[in-house]
Amino acid sequence: MIFEILLSLIFTLVGYIIYDYIQMSQFFKRRGVKHFPPVPILGNIHNTTFRKMHFVEEMQLVHDAFPDEKYVGFMDCTKPILFIRDPELIKQITVKDFDHFTDRREFLTEELDPLFASTVLFMKGEKWRQMRTTLTPAFTGSKMKSMLPIIVENANNIIQYLHDHQTEIIDVEDLVNRYAVDVISSAGFGLQINSLKDRDNELFKIGINLLNFTLKQRALFILSSMFSDLTRKLGVRFYPEKTYNLFRNLVATTMEYRKREHVERPDMIQLLMEAKGEWSADELTGQVFNFFIAGLDSTSSAIVMAIHELALHPEIQEKLYQECRHLEEDKGLTFDSLSELKYLDCVINETLRKWTAGIFIDRTCVKTYGLPPPREGGRPYTLKPGDVVYNMLNAMLMDPNHWPEPHKFDPERFSEENKHNIKPYTYMPFGAGPRICLGQRFAMMEVKALIFQITLNFMIVKTEKTMDPIKLKPHNFSIKALDGTWVKFQKRE
Ligand code: HEM
Ligand SMILES: *[C@@H]1O[C@H](CO)[C@@H](O)[C@H](O)[C@H]1NC(C)=O
Ligand SMILES: *[C@@H]1O[C@H](CO)[C@@H](O)[C@H](O)[C@H]1NC(C)=O
Ligand SMILES: *[C@@H]1O[C@H](CO)[C@@H](O)[C@H](O)[C@H]1NC(C)=O
Ligand SMILES: *[C@@H]1O[C@H](CO)[C@@H](O)[C@H](O)[C@H]1NC(C)=O
Repeated sequence: MIFEILLSLIFTLVGYIIYDYIQMSQFFKRRGVKHFPPVPILGNIHNTTFRKMHFVEEMQLVHDAFPDEKYVGFMDCTKPILFIRDPELIKQITVKDFDHFTDRREFLTEELDPLFASTVLFMKGEKWRQMRTTLTPAFTGSKMKSMLPIIVENANNIIQYLHDHQTEIIDVEDLVNRYAVDVISSAGFGLQINSLKDRDNELFKIGINLLNFTLKQRALFILSSMFSDLTRKLGVRFYPEKTYNLFRNLVATTMEYRKREHVERPDMIQLLMEAKGEWSADELTGQVFNFFIAGLDSTSSAIVMAIHELALHPEIQEKLYQECRHLEEDKGLTFDSLSELKYLDCVINETLRKWTAGIFIDRTCVKTYGLPPPREGGRPYTLKPGDVVYNMLNAMLMDPNHWPEPHKFDPERFSEENKHNIKPYTYMPFGAGPRICLGQRFAMMEVKALIFQITLNFMIVKTEKTMDPIKLKPHNFSIKALDGTWVKFQKRE
């Protein structure tokens, strides 16, 4: 009896997989869209699942394989996705016809992760619009101005640390992660955690590992995209209970304290408190969580990669040093003088071109939308509600048709003389349209303040442990060098 049940179960499963595979391998062919042949169950993601390459490199392969197409097909397990590779079409989807594409792809359902789903990053439709409106005032120029001193204070902690460790080869990833957690905590929530000294700080440990997924979490990703009903019924949660509690407590106690002591600060918590009436506790906590997920790894990758590239390019570093020294002697670093650092802007922009953490700009279609044919003479394509498109981001930034010699680190691409060569919608490290990165100005300020202070005080020196050329670590979502980033910081006289 048991044997027969088992047998029929296996048959059903095999049957399902075969049926699924036939559906999946016919999907794009029937619609006249070019694609790589999928494998059963994993579709086109087998290379990344088995760690052969970074997700970014996989997308690059697909993007580059079909140079004449406006969009190509990709199977994320069994979920068909269109990769949009035409700048004009990207503009239509993210800006002009945004009302057809107001939502991101749902990676984790609300049941699987209540906090993830209630971040502004993953909120949908009208709810998203309201939350975005609530949060936007936290990122105005005047708010940024009042946050700069807090950022500079944290940058100074790093400089002090480097002064004390000049003879060592520094693990830049670890160092910068600590800076990023300290900055977000203090500028966002008024929490002074000096994770350089308090090395096992709990917020640091949990915050830094939010995107360092375990095997179980990665399996859940795949399961929930294939069988969303099943994962819903099983009631499994994506993060350990400890993580949810940490963030809930953090927000609740901070809000209580401020109310009790009548403390007012120009930060996120303050704004959330003012908007409190309309939102549930989880929705408020979700935003704090959001700044950790969206703002930590992305910003620290940008800083780490900038330091890595500067170590590999002493001539660029020297030019940057001259600019920083000049400003320091002239008027010093202020919110207004920051924008005078033109070359620093070029260096950071070039870092974000080669190494931005964005990867793709995902959108879910919410109203039926007709795409033009993928190529001249092709058939138009109809997107239905629920269909997902990825607007290519990193792949576009490394496309030799848009960026000659894409692997060369060359800040001059962004100089006054060369800037006009950049085609519209081929450079958008922070995304595009109404859902563009909310923290863009904050992130640029955070990155620039630290690179400025480091360049002014130290020479970033390549050592035998410094990876050259840089290859990506084929793990998870982070943009990090395969062997890490290890350099020496030598004091300038
Ligand atoms: C260099 C660092 C960063 C990069 C490269 C980056 C990049 C991005 C990208 C590509 C998106 C998607 C935009 C789109 O769909 O069009 C995004 C969204 C977002 N980012 Fe950032 N980001 C960075 C830092 C930050 C920081 C520091 C914060 C917060 C303090 C932040 C908060 C957000 C939020 C809230 C969203 C969602 C916006 C929405 O859906 O309305 N980001 N970011
Ligand atoms: C996976 O990688 C191999 C080379 O290692 C490549 O030939 C193949 O096209 C890749 N598959 C996909 C779907 O990108
Ligand atoms: C990621 O998590 C693993 C354990 O799951 C740990 O060994 C590793 O050090 C973590 N990586 C980072 C960058 O913290
Ligand atoms: C990626 O995830 C694995 C777990 O599957 C973990 O062991 C590893 O440390 C992670 N890598 C990074 C760079 O976060
Ligand atoms: C750098 O990129 C930003 C957009 O991310 C842009 O506003 C700025 O003008 C760029 N700077 C230069 C010097 O091109």
